Amino acid sequence: MTNTLVVCYSRTGVTRRVADAVVQATGAALEIITEARSRSGFLNYMRSGKEALFKRAAPIEPTRHDPADFDLVLLGCPVWAGHIPSPMLTYIDANKGHMHRVAFFATQMSSSADKMFRQMAAQTGRDPIATLVLLQRDVEADACGDAITQFVAELGFT
Ligand SMILES: Cc1cc2nc3c(=O)[nH]c(=O)nc-3n(C[C@H](O)[C@H](O)[C@H](O)COP(=O)(O)O)c2cc1C
Repeated sequence: MTNTLVVCYSRTGVTRRVADAVVQATGAALEIITEARSRSGFLNYMRSGKEALFKRAAPIEPTRHDPADFDLVLLGCPVWAGHIPSPMLTYIDANKGHMHRVAFFATQMSSSADKMFRQMAAQTGRDPIATLVLLQRDVEADACGDAITQFVAELGFT
């Protein structure tokens, strides 16, 4: 079985639901990226969009796993203003060169995950072996089981 790490950043829990389903289907280890500073409320929403757009780093709490110890690292996050959320960007920059093979998953309101995935490939220096994009409303309606099963199969888990 592939030794796999799922790394997830989720502001409001949507992407976290996908991460949990992937972990359940694969038996992967889970790393949740957290921050000391809150991102709730309108002003923090605006700050988040600005940080992503201008590729700013955001301080994150220490992580538990070294991605270099895993054959495969799955990076999951929401799309922010068509860009990588600042906490995930900070994680990638801190662990760049420690990821052997990668795959990406994202949740979004409507669009731009593909653009974000190109940025994630550039930032990690790795092309993903598979990607998964889900709409927030489908995750919330629990309508993503088939897509997650297909993603996990593409990763080599049966
Ligand atoms: C600052 C910010 C910017 C966003 N920009 C986009 C966007 O460009 N495209 C999109 O489809 N959704 C966008 N969204 C919506 C989120 O991607 C979507 O709600 C996601 O499912 C939230 O996941 P989470 O609960 O894991 O944080 C944005 C959300 C935030 C907070």
